[in-house]
Amino acid sequence: MTVIEIDGLRKSYRHTRALDGLSLTVERGEIFGLAGPNGAGKTTVVECVSGLRRPDGGSVRVLGLDPQSDRRALLQRVGAQLQEAALPDGIKVGEALRLYSSLYDHPADWRAIMDEWGLTDRKDARFGGLSGGWKQRLFIALALVGDPELVLLDELTTGLDPDARRTTWGLIRAMRDRGITVVLVTHFMDEAETLCDRIAVVDRGRVVAEGSPRELIGRARAASLEDAYFTLTGRAGA
Ligand SMILES: Nc1ncnc2c1ncn2[C@@H]1O[C@H](COP(=O)(O)OP(=O)(O)OP(=O)(O)O)[C@@H](O)[C@H]1O
Ligand SMILES: [Mg+2]
Repeated sequence: MTVIEIDGLRKSYRHTRALDGLSLTVERGEIFGLAGPNGAGKTTVVECVSGLRRPDGGSVRVLGLDPQSDRRALLQRVGAQLQEAALPDGIKVGEALRLYSSLYDHPADWRAIMDEWGLTDRKDARFGGLSGGWKQRLFIALALVGDPELVLLDELTTGLDPDARRTTWGLIRAMRDRGITVVLVTHFMDEAETLCDRIAVVDRGRVVAEGSPRELIGRARAASLEDAYFTLTGRAGA
C-alpha cells in the first residue's frame, strides 16, 4: 500500500523555487530516505507532507488524505520530528510526553514509550539540561506518542556522536519492525545506505534519482552510496 504519493509538487517562497515538480512514492513499512544538498527542498517536502506548508501546485496524498484539507485527521496518524524542533528549556521529560499524548484521540501509553526509549530515569530532567543525544531520543519518543502509522524524521542524527547515531539507527529499525513507515531526511550516506530501503536524491526541488541503495550504487557505477550521491547530483566529491 502506498503511504505517501507526491506528484509534480511545486512550492516557491518569495524569491526561491524550493520544489519544482517533485514526485515520489513511499510504500507502507519502508524506511524511505530523502537525501540531497542544502537547500534542495527536503524539509519543504516534509512540511508539505505533514500539512505545515501549502503547496503551490501538484498533489500530495498521505495515508489517502489531503494534508491541507484533512490536516486534523492526518495529525492523529503521523508523528513528526522537525529539523528546527525545540521545547521550552524548563519542561520535564515526563511532562512533555504526557502533554503530547494529550493531543491525540488514541495515544499510545506514554509511560511505556518513555520506558522503551530509556527515558524513565530522566523523567524529571528538564529539556534544557539534556545532551543532544537525549534530546533526540525524547523527540523520537514524542513522535511515537500518538501511536502513528507514519513517522517523519528530519535530520534526526545531525549533531550526534557516532555512538548515539548507532543507537538511534537501532531505534529507527525498531520502529520499522513494528510496521511504522519511516521517512528519514539525512545528509549521511552511510546512514542512508545501512538504514533505508529506498532513497530519493533531491536536487533543486526535483528527484534526480530514486531506488534502493544497491540500485543507486549500481546505476552510478559507484563503490558506495556516498560516491553514487556525488555522481547523481553532479557535485564535487571525494
Ligand atoms: N520559510 C522560508 N522562506 C523563504 N525561503 C525558504 C523558506 N524555507 C526554505 N526556503 C528556501 O527554500 C529552499 C529549500 O529549502 P529547504 O529547507 O526545503 O531545503 P533542505 O533540502 O531541507 O536544506 P537543508 O539540507 O539545508 O536542511 C532553500 O533555497 C531555502 O532557502
Ligand atoms: Mg532541511
